[in-house]
Amino acid sequence: MLNPADNALLTQVGAATPGGQVMRRYWLPFLLSGELPAPDAPPARIRLLGEDLVTFRDSTSKVALVANSCPHRGASLFFGRNEESGLRCVYHGWKFDTEGACVDMPNEPAESNFKHKIRLTAYPCVERNGVVWTYMGPQSPPPALPSLEWNMVPPAQAHVTKRVQRNNWFQGLEGGIDSSHVNFIHALLSTGASPGRTAQGGFGYMANDKHPRFETLDTEAGTLVTARRNAEADSYYWRVNHYLLPFYTLFPPSGKDPAASGHAWVPIDDDSTIVFHWTYHPVRPLADAELTAMHNGVGGQDGFHPSEGAMLPATSVPFGAFYPRQNADNDYLQSREAQRTERFSSVAGGWAQDAGVQESMGTVCPRPNEHLGTSDLGIISARRVFLKAVLAFRDRREEPPAVNDPDAWFVRPAGAVLPRDAEWVPAMRESLLARAGTPFAVA
Ligand code: FES
Ligand SMILES: [Fe+2]
Repeated sequence: MLNPADNALLTQVGAATPGGQVMRRYWLPFLLSGELPAPDAPPARIRLLGEDLVTFRDSTSKVALVANSCPHRGASLFFGRNEESGLRCVYHGWKFDTEGACVDMPNEPAESNFKHKIRLTAYPCVERNGVVWTYMGPQSPPPALPSLEWNMVPPAQAHVTKRVQRNNWFQGLEGGIDSSHVNFIHALLSTGASPGRTAQGGFGYMANDKHPRFETLDTEAGTLVTARRNAEADSYYWRVNHYLLPFYTLFPPSGKDPAASGHAWVPIDDDSTIVFHWTYHPVRPLADAELTAMHNGVGGQDGFHPSEGAMLPATSVPFGAFYPRQNADNDYLQSREAQRTERFSSVAGGWAQDAGVQESMGTVCPRPNEHLGTSDLGIISARRVFLKAVLAFRDRREEPPAVNDPDAWFVRPAGAVLPRDAEWVPAMRESLLARAGTPFAVA
């Protein structure tokens, strides 16, 4: 449990909060490149860390993220004209470039230099391999992008999707490092494994042992969350997830030459979250069968990527193309019949199962009411890591961990079957670091 004050510190992301100030020291992924498909495409509303913003791609294809409020008299720039390398407010024609400079003020006298005194809040953006990132912090120039491997491989080696979840970012993140929930909410009654996974190798050990033993170990930019399950009579199966500041979770793959996946739980505000999910292979392009499963689901239900058609018709609210059809208003389209005959959860699809329970906890989970067990050790550890950074910033103005060390994010999740008397840290240390051109270490 957490007391109410610590729960607020953990969850609040507004600009005036310590957590929000820490969050602003890190880069935030917020857009898939295709959402702004061409130079001068229509702008889109964005909301990040509780700020209402507008994104646009200018005539040179550079992406901008600016306040959604014109500095003249506050009209929304979402209605603006995106033309000739700038966004022009439709009310009186003031025009702003990607850096927020006012480059034209056509309703003032030609000799006026007023436009040079006006700036629109603008956050730097960088586009890498199909994902647009922004930095809302004070460092100028901003630090380098974190070296997250899924966003550093060529686009053919990665699949990235996005959806909105209507709850605070941290309780989503807690699901991303919670290895013990997989045996329950995601399990098929037939195999005990998650949809799309065979109960072989590591996934078989997972399905068979429902009460993993947890250990954690802090890293430069987060914490490792290790779950140990029984494998054979003389061995254990170890799965090591990463929590990486501020909002990334990576979980290990299993099987033959697999791809690996993870999440970024990016706060829209205190009550809603953009959930990025990626699957990537460090060496080879994703295979057609892998892509088909992610685009269409398997056996009539999605895995952890929302499939094509999973979203409601797009609207123009922030992230309005990423609201799922399965949602709280329709009980996630649950089937009690399928719950009796097919799967542990009444809800179909890995991501919808997670969204359903996480949203059901309340928009901000009341952690003072919870009762944590030994299987919650990873969650306790992730909270401690984030709160430590928040308190160090609030009380001593310490920069959060690794903000200027992008390689702290160049890591991998890993799984291994080890003799029962082996130590997992020395045995798995190398496989927890990313190495360009090498496949994942798996069991
Ligand atoms: S309110 Fe935007 S130009 Fe006047
Ligand atoms: Fe889950």
